[in-house]
Amino acid sequence: MPAVILNDVGPRDGLQNQSKVLEPIDRVRLVHALLDSGVTHVEAGAFVSPRAVPAMAGAADVMAGLYDEARGGVTPVLTFLVPNLRGYELAREAGVRSVCMVLYGSERMAEANVQMSRVDAEHATAEILQRAQRDGVRVTTTVAVAFECPWEGPTDPGRIASLASEFLARGADEFCVADTIGAANPRQVQKLMQRLAGENGAARLSCHFHDTRAMGLVNVYAALETGIRKFDAAISGLGGCPFAPGASGNVATEDVVMMLEQMGLSTGIDLDALMRASSLATQLTGTAPGGRARAWLQRADL
Ligand code: COA
Ligand code: ZN
Repeated sequence: MPAVILNDVGPRDGLQNQSKVLEPIDRVRLVHALLDSGVTHVEAGAFVSPRAVPAMAGAADVMAGLYDEARGGVTPVLTFLVPNLRGYELAREAGVRSVCMVLYGSERMAEANVQMSRVDAEHATAEILQRAQRDGVRVTTTVAVAFECPWEGPTDPGRIASLASEFLARGADEFCVADTIGAANPRQVQKLMQRLAGENGAARLSCHFHDTRAMGLVNVYAALETGIRKFDAAISGLGGCPFAPGASGNVATEDVVMMLEQMGLSTGIDLDALMRASSLATQLTGTAPGGRARAWLQRADL
């Protein structure tokens, strides 16, 4: 059992913001490259309106193309984002067994993302969560703009704490705290995650950091210090929310793996194989490789 679990959100958070739209078959290749490196958790797509997010069209084809049998005794957790009941139903029809639903730290972000009020999004999430429990589907609830909203500014930590208690009590398998625009600093992360871990225990909490201001890794470290052992990251640092101005890529999975492994915290991921997934991500999207691990590894080879 690895000390820290990484959920690679590159195939969803990463690809949704790329100008180049990848065919489902190429998204499947990327997910498989990640699984081949020992990544056990992948956010593989989203059942959202194809008009809202063209890059996520064909999520059912992605799901159909994925192998999800146990590998080395571990069954991968392949998660799809769903924004509403329609998305949940489509995901179920496609055979999805793990979904991610989004809650919001601010009103404006909820409106920009799903054309719902913050409270309506909470109600929709609660309803889907109930259904998912009946269906035996695993659920992550992720709270977007948990630290700062591009329009409303700093988010009240009390609001995030109430959402965490409420949705964990409702039975969410995981509550993920997302710094959607990369605005958080490590002290803020430590304070919030300490509070949430104190109130709910750390086991079902996770964090999602964007590296907009090069604070992705240090925020991972700050959360680790509070006992958080699960993180989202994106291969090659892909990412960014098309509906949150200023958001850049997620913290790069390869950088997080490199840091954790060097600290003696196992991830179960083979860094060389992960770099092959990173090269594939770069090749498929045509964007420059993100993160710093690649340059370091190439230097170490000299
Ligand atoms: N998947 C696919 N299609 C969907 C859908 C879903 N989950 N939910 C709604 N639709 C379709 C409707 O069937 C309708 O289609 P039609 O025009 O052909 O009849 C159309 O989308 C509009 O439906 P409506 O309920 O009015 O939605 P909306 O226009 O208010 O948009 C969302 C709401 C949630 C569907 C849309 O904003 C969305 O998909 N957002 C996702 C954003 C996202 O992924 N952000 C990044 C992740 S944090
Ligand atoms: Zn994100």
